[in-house]
Amino acid sequence: MLVLIKDLKNIFHKELDAIYGVEEVASFFFICTENYYNVTRLQLALDSDLAINKEEQTVIFNALEDLKNEKPIQYIIGETEFYGLPFKVNKHTLIPRPETEELVTLVLKTAKQKLKESKPLTCLDIGTGSGCIAISLAKELKEAQVYAIDVSTEAIKKAKENAVLNNVAVEFIKCDILNACNETLNKDLKFNVIVSNPPYVRNLEKAEIKNNVLNNEPHLALFVEDDNPLLFYKAIAEFATKKLHKNGKLFFEINEYLGEETKALVENIGFKNVEIIKDIFNKDRMLSADL
Ligand SMILES: C[S@@+](CC[C@H](N)C(=O)[O-])C[C@H]1O[C@@H](n2cnc3c(N)ncnc32)[C@H](O)[C@@H]1O
Repeated sequence: MLVLIKDLKNIFHKELDAIYGVEEVASFFFICTENYYNVTRLQLALDSDLAINKEEQTVIFNALEDLKNEKPIQYIIGETEFYGLPFKVNKHTLIPRPETEELVTLVLKTAKQKLKESKPLTCLDIGTGSGCIAISLAKELKEAQVYAIDVSTEAIKKAKENAVLNNVAVEFIKCDILNACNETLNKDLKFNVIVSNPPYVRNLEKAEIKNNVLNNEPHLALFVEDDNPLLFYKAIAEFATKKLHKNGKLFFEINEYLGEETKALVENIGFKNVEIIKDIFNKDRMLSADL
């Protein structure tokens, strides 16, 4: 028995429009049909009689239930896009954000220049999650050696899958940046560029965070204690003073409310030319510093 795809679309709108609005529901629906049935929005527009077998509908009804529970579509289909590349994601990896694409653009500007001066260029991404930063850098900087660390075994597993998916070589290392990563990494290994998007959301900011994030994304990737919100920045900047080459560059994604505090911390640890850079929403979002 066949089920018309357009009938499924009507069910999606009936069940979900009140939660997400018509446009977003249409977009979710076509992400699902493309992912599960290889049917694009255009194909359905050209042939409204496209149908699937009744047994094939379970998967899209499961997605519908997940969407009703506000599970992010990226976790439902297990994939997202970052810097024009595909990335597998799961509950152990943050869904990469557009702000972080801006951070990659910023790093690449410097790294491409540095690549001319120092070969091989070495880059380290701290708290790699899905591997989105490290893999995008490796893709763009063909001659660079890219390393990435994370404390989560499951995140490292996904990041390794993503490196294969994107056909790049990145060395992933499991270690805890708050606890002697120095000793885990080869002591002779130094970097020209260190970049990190560490956990930076304070518990007191939880009220601003949407339920779909709070209930689905890994808290290990997001939250820090209110009374010590810059602990990752301190640990990473101190680590970077030992592991960056002379004239090396440090880049951070930062908490928009803590720009000046983060800048002062990085300066006190010994970095020069510390700059706060705004994102497209005009929020303090990135920081760059020279050793
Ligand atoms: C904000 S997420 C960033 C993920 C990814 N780089 C991105 O930009 O989408 C922070 C990452 O730091 C990792 N992390 C948390 N605590 C850590 C620690 N002590 N040492 C190393 N990584 C840690 C988390 O597992 C998570 O993947």
